[in-house]
Amino acid sequence: MEIFIDTANIDEIRKANDWGVIDGVTTNPSLVAKEKGKDFKTIVKEICEIVHGDVSAEVVATDYEGMLHEARVLAKVHKNVVVKIPLTPDGLKAVKALAKEGVRANVTLCFSANQALLAAKAGAYIISPFVGRLDDIGQDGVQLVEEILQIYDNYEFKTKVLFASVRHPDHVKQAALIGADIATCPFKVIEQLYRHPMSDSGLKQFLDDWAKLGQQIK
Ligand code: G3P
Repeated sequence: MEIFIDTANIDEIRKANDWGVIDGVTTNPSLVAKEKGKDFKTIVKEICEIVHGDVSAEVVATDYEGMLHEARVLAKVHKNVVVKIPLTPDGLKAVKALAKEGVRANVTLCFSANQALLAAKAGAYIISPFVGRLDDIGQDGVQLVEEILQIYDNYEFKTKVLFASVRHPDHVKQAALIGADIATCPFKVIEQLYRHPMSDSGLKQFLDDWAKLGQQIK
């Protein structure tokens, strides 16, 4: 499973990329808005220079022509840009037109299996079901991803399934268990993936015992 980082913060992206486990990046308008005063295209370019994988950048127009224009502008920033398009009728129409031009789309704000079916038919490169936001309203986000994987398998759709809106490390485990193609995680969750209290206490014990020996490895 590919692990993406869900942020527009350059420091977080640099740090996670240095750990060697990041395959790509997703951003959205809310995440970009947190990076006050920075030009959006400059941020996207900078991210593409750090991470050598897919980088999702979202349009903010809501009409077909506007989305097409913004998608083309963003796709020109770097060959690794995947344009994020919201799941609306105009959005999926734009996805279809962009696919013909070779511009890859990540269809975002997916909350149902039927939406995911339409996105795949339109030629989406990635579908992003928002698991955490469904969990937040008492619905089963993981079940939605399972349904999408089943439907895509039934009809051999090539669209990648990206487990989005990750809230905690258990979401990442669930994504991997059900066979999602990608999970996109906030920086904090990527950090948490490394952690286990027994890893920390075990290491401390090893080092304390070694220190008593008074040796060095040379
Ligand atoms: O970037 C899309 C998605 O991962 C957003 O997550 O935490 O705002 O629900 P969240």
